[in-house]
Amino acid sequence: MTASACEYIPGLANVPAAQSSISYVDGKKGILEYRGFQIEDLAAKSTFLETTYLLIWGQLPSKQQLADFENEVRYHRRIKYRIRDMMKCFPETGHPMDALQTSAAALGLFYARRALNDPQYIREAVVRLIAKIPTMVAAFMQMRKGNDPIQPNDDLDYATNFLYMLTERIPEPLAARIFDVCLMLHAEHTINASTFSAMVTASTMTDPYAVIASAVGTLAGPLHGGANEEVIFMLQDIGSVENVRPYVENLIANKSKIMGFGHRVYKVKDPRATILQGLAERLFEQTGRDEYYDIAVELERVVEEKLGSKGIYANVDFYSGLVYRKLGIPTDLFTPIFAIARVAGWLAHWREQIGENRIFRPTQIYTGGHNHPYIPMRER
Ligand code: SDX
Repeated sequence: MTASACEYIPGLANVPAAQSSISYVDGKKGILEYRGFQIEDLAAKSTFLETTYLLIWGQLPSKQQLADFENEVRYHRRIKYRIRDMMKCFPETGHPMDALQTSAAALGLFYARRALNDPQYIREAVVRLIAKIPTMVAAFMQMRKGNDPIQPNDDLDYATNFLYMLTERIPEPLAARIFDVCLMLHAEHTINASTFSAMVTASTMTDPYAVIASAVGTLAGPLHGGANEEVIFMLQDIGSVENVRPYVENLIANKSKIMGFGHRVYKVKDPRATILQGLAERLFEQTGRDEYYDIAVELERVVEEKLGSKGIYANVDFYSGLVYRKLGIPTDLFTPIFAIARVAGWLAHWREQIGENRIFRPTQIYTGGHNHPYIPMRER
């Protein structure tokens, strides 16, 4: 079927690029569902690995299916020593998202490409990427400090093990549970920029490691997954509750984007922001309030007052950083953590795309000239 009208829509806003059953967003009502299950329900009752299984294979796993998946992921958490050796050459000042994109692509060197219609190959790639991405994020974080990476602890569940590899301390159960919920909240979100990037790469039938490396690079941008880190820098820059209003008025006067606000689809508060705000408050009960939380709440109030009429509200990136700070996670790891979670959604779309594939190749509206005569250097 070919498109009749050749109308150019900047950013493909509201242009369907796929048919998918993986997740659903209602931007007006603030609804997010994974395979038909409401995000609030999953956040309260599920786990990240169970949600990952649901996203990728389309139904909630049985007790045995979940146990098998968890055990396979646990078994594959370690990374090849050659990848650790490669990381030793990375500059300590490099951004962890660049380290992650490089090491994710490197994974493909160790696992020979096989037919993409082989369910076993698909499962192995899913398990390896879900299992190894957290280990690579934690390894770079340790190595840039001059430390040996902390090996995964097979006695710990997925979320607890990641926090352990970051800090070498076993986190409190509440902290681990809240981190696991954060991973669920960030796992999937229809055809966002990094997922679209994954789908375009997948549509060429390349290997899944290249697909994930493409998506990591896309997520890193400050207009997408990089916003969570920028929100903390902004809260630090604002410095006090009293300074919020003039700060916002200045940003608006300069037509600057306010990080952590606005969304292509949500025209109300992102339901994930609401849940993350609640998680932050639960953490604060146990650990004390974050110094920036009051500034954040006032900032959300002022931005809603000024820009709510334009449908600009807090998105998923606004409160996530305040949760991660309380978990002792460095600011520049916020986006790699977003990537750890979103690997689930990227792999779900990879599997859906290769299952009924047509290579992405849109058209363009040409705006240049034609038939220019070549101009010799002496005449330029
Ligand atoms: C994520 O797509 C997804 O689902 C992404 C995500 C996911 O789970 O994958 O939800 C994760 O990326 C969340 C978004 C994180 N990014 C930020 O917080 C960065 C700040 N947000 C903006 O850059 C912006 O809101 C976007 C990029 C999120 C959405 O951009 P759009 O849909 O292209 O909107 P736009 O830039 O065309 O803006 C429309 C209007 C403009 O005003 P006018 O020129 O029409 O007068 O709204 C204004 C914009 O200036 N606007 C903002 C704003 N966002 C939009 N003004 C101030 N601050 C903002 N944050």
